[in-house]
Amino acid sequence: MTKHFTTAVITRSLLLFWVMAAMIPAFGQKGLRDALGNYFLIGSSLNQWQSAGTDSAATAVVKKHFNTAVAENCMKSGPIHPEENRYDFTAADQFVDYCERNGLVPIGHCLVWHSQAPAWLFRTADGQAVSRDELIRRIQQHIKTVVGRYKGRVHGWDVVNEAIEDDGTLRKSLFYNIIGEEFIDIAFQAAHEADPEAELYYNDYSMALPAKREAACRLVKRLKSKGLCIDAVGMQSHLGLHYPDLDEYERSIEAIAQCGVKVMITELDVNVLPNPRSFNGAEVSQDFEYQQRLNPYPNGLPADKAAELQQRYLDLFTIYQRHHSQISRVNLWGISDANSWLNGWPVRGRTNYPLLFDRQYQAKPVVEKIIQLFEKDRK
Ligand code: G3I
Repeated sequence: MTKHFTTAVITRSLLLFWVMAAMIPAFGQKGLRDALGNYFLIGSSLNQWQSAGTDSAATAVVKKHFNTAVAENCMKSGPIHPEENRYDFTAADQFVDYCERNGLVPIGHCLVWHSQAPAWLFRTADGQAVSRDELIRRIQQHIKTVVGRYKGRVHGWDVVNEAIEDDGTLRKSLFYNIIGEEFIDIAFQAAHEADPEAELYYNDYSMALPAKREAACRLVKRLKSKGLCIDAVGMQSHLGLHYPDLDEYERSIEAIAQCGVKVMITELDVNVLPNPRSFNGAEVSQDFEYQQRLNPYPNGLPADKAAELQQRYLDLFTIYQRHHSQISRVNLWGISDANSWLNGWPVRGRTNYPLLFDRQYQAKPVVEKIIQLFEKDRK
């Protein structure tokens, strides 16, 4: 064998070795679902383009990191039931199909919500206000049709969303004003009848507020006392770097669990931008005028803010790990920073960085740290 041939063989072998060595971490690197999957479901909301399968970068993240997903918008009553005698299941069907194709537990969101409800729901054909009995019938028909269509496929539903105010009183929505508090009972009863196997949830934001968590606990106890099925309370968890107080947040997890239901973290994101005024809600109707001072990081998050965000997420996932026996699902509200509703709320046209994956769908360093946090404590 000539000297040159030997050198060539050795060089190629070394090159092959390094290439394989470089690939091993990519194949072997655990995803969030591997490290957290023994504790609780871990997932994200999907927008209609993602659940149509047209966002390949999103699908790559989903396949590696998530085992559940929730429909961000396509299952809300407005998009899915735009007219009294017309449903549009196109996007919702795609969402459930996508979940089943990609090993994701599908979660439906949301059956009864004061926002995104179609106008026809509250009006008669001649434009009069709908009667109590007719609105009840319409709610029951909507839920029976939507939940019934996905019977045995959708694992759980946000049956009622955001029915409680921050002070613990019930939101004076049209559902409440026309039917009374009982609209909640009626929705849960209809959902259970439509799919007795599906889990049923009450979902709300700012659940770290004592008055709100106490009201949610009263609601759970009332539904249970009437023999109605409710399996979990969703703490949406639209949080900031400095709100809410995490001790209060943890007290809410414990208080809800003591009501005999599971806790779900349903819409987790961490707003890193200044708010127009101090508030910690997620009232989607809020819309403030754009000011440059409210959009300080249009070209990237400074290292110190990125470090704060990382620590916030590690603090949160440490709490979830501590309470994993009470928490059955942790769900981000968006896959990448580019998808987040927080780029446009409560101020339009901003650049926010609230999620675990950046605008190029690359995992932020905190993802590996969360994996290590759970691997270290592996059950
Ligand atoms: O699909 C239409 C499109 O056809 C139309 O051209 C466009 C312009 O009007 O609107 C599109 O619908 C938008 C929809 O998102 C899909 O992009 C709605 O206007 C817009 O209001 C809607 O915003 C969603 C918001 O809920 C209201 O439904 C956000 O994406 C979604 O992240 C947000 O999520 C809510 C949860 O459901 C409940 N908890 C709070 C959370 C944040 O508000």
